[in-house]
Amino acid sequence: MPLEVVVKSEAAVSARRYEIAKGRREAASTIMERRLGAAHTSRRIHMNRREFMGTGAGVAALGSAVKTTLLSPRPLGAAARAVPASDRVRFASIGTGVEGCTILQAALNCPGTEIVAACDLYDGRLTAAKEYAKKEIFTTKDYRAILDRNDVDAVLVATPDHWHARIVKDACAAGKDVYCEKPMSHTVDQAFAMIEAMQNHNRIVQVGSQCRSSIVFAKAKEVFDSGVLGQVTAVEAALDRNDASGAWVYPIPPDASEQTIDWERFLGDAPKRPFDPIRFFRWRCFRDYGEGLPGDLYVHMLTGIHFIAGITAPPLRASSMGGILRWTDHREAPDLIWTLYEYPSFRLAMRCNLNNESPYVVRYFGTKGTLELKNDVLTVTPQNGEPQPEGYSILGWPEKLRTQYLEEWHKEHPGTLPGKYKLIQSAESFQAPPDYDYQVDHMNNFMESVRTRQPSVEDAVYGKNTAIACHMANHSYFDKTIAVWDEGARKIQSV
Ligand SMILES: NC(=O)c1ccc[n+]([C@@H]2O[C@H](COP(=O)([O-])OP(=O)(O)OC[C@H]3O[C@@H](n4cnc5c(N)ncnc54)[C@H](O)[C@@H]3O)[C@@H](O)[C@H]2O)c1
Repeated sequence: MPLEVVVKSEAAVSARRYEIAKGRREAASTIMERRLGAAHTSRRIHMNRREFMGTGAGVAALGSAVKTTLLSPRPLGAAARAVPASDRVRFASIGTGVEGCTILQAALNCPGTEIVAACDLYDGRLTAAKEYAKKEIFTTKDYRAILDRNDVDAVLVATPDHWHARIVKDACAAGKDVYCEKPMSHTVDQAFAMIEAMQNHNRIVQVGSQCRSSIVFAKAKEVFDSGVLGQVTAVEAALDRNDASGAWVYPIPPDASEQTIDWERFLGDAPKRPFDPIRFFRWRCFRDYGEGLPGDLYVHMLTGIHFIAGITAPPLRASSMGGILRWTDHREAPDLIWTLYEYPSFRLAMRCNLNNESPYVVRYFGTKGTLELKNDVLTVTPQNGEPQPEGYSILGWPEKLRTQYLEEWHKEHPGTLPGKYKLIQSAESFQAPPDYDYQVDHMNNFMESVRTRQPSVEDAVYGKNTAIACHMANHSYFDKTIAVWDEGARKIQSV
């Protein structure tokens, strides 16, 4: 496997992530060892000779390799038993572009799922839908024709963001369960209307940030909840790319025209404009249809952070800065954005940069350790949270006073005599097997909810919280203000 794999598009992330994780496993442990070595060096500066000699056990721990555990995928619920025909979920896609086709593939890997229909506004994608479904299926450019069908139990909504709310509401009213792509909403009001539709019609709605179903994230949550990190006050997260595809400069198919694309329907409630294939295929760049980098990529990181840290509401405040610094085409969405979020118990710094490739990384900084998720490899690095005798500031004391201070200190802390306490425990890593695909796990969780009528692990309430965090990041960036979430008014306010 190559060490460096260029992640060109969001859809490709899941497919390539495992190659990256596999290729970088060795590199990750080298980096971790280097970091442990650095910690060791800096600690030595602060110790007198007696203390340094007493840390043999700690030094041995520092030199050891990072222990890596391969996580076991959950058996797919439905796969563990034969799915009776009556339990089969008949599934249709609405919006069958890049992600729609990816999800159709994932659905084919879920036992007891049948693809029966597809909707899209571009002829080429209706052809692609049949190819992915591997059979002749009903296709249409009008999603209502899908909702009218009795042989459809559940639908995928993988259109650009500005269409999500309307289709989800109509689908719930038509008695269909819904897998809606992220970010769930395009506006705050839409998010609440989608929750209402889910609840009023008693439907399963699952949002499509697939990391919510990943075994690696489940392990991260277990570590977070165990308390080994101590008090987590800071989190940082970044997802960066450095190529045209990563910056949404997708090629326009040669047959794109008003004859092959239903342009009027694409616009929907967005302002009327003459046919523009750039807007149709690169919709993420434009505010009328998409949520830019927050809706494209922040939302995945936020989904993981909300899950792992147990967040059940939007952040309190968000402050963004960024700009269109390199991709100076006709886009409105920045190609670099940084947001500082305030959550009640920690602060989060998040970044997406389309001008440099660097590993996808999320770090949780706790008083007793750091949890790092880097390209799907999870590493826990404990820190010494035990009381330590002062080393640095007594360097300016005469030796007699230093000795006296240290003797008294050790009398007061008998459990931490030199040689008895550990400087640092070794780091530990966790990762999924290379062929693990959390997209399939997420789709299978949806199918299980459809069968059992148990709420989805990432329902519309969950999706509302992460989507609003994205709306807040954009609100702050575009309005050049701090965005404050007003729960009572259900609005983002500016300060
Ligand atoms: N979970 C993930 O990892 C992931 C990855 C990529 C995209 N997405 C999300 O999936 C959605 C689609 O993204 P994409 O990359 O597939 O975009 P895309 O442009 O490749 O496909 C969108 C398709 O929706 C169709 N469409 C637009 N309006 C429609 C309507 N009213 N009815 C039916 N079809 C309509 C278009 O014809 C187009 O083919 C977005 O919300 C995006 O954020 C999620």
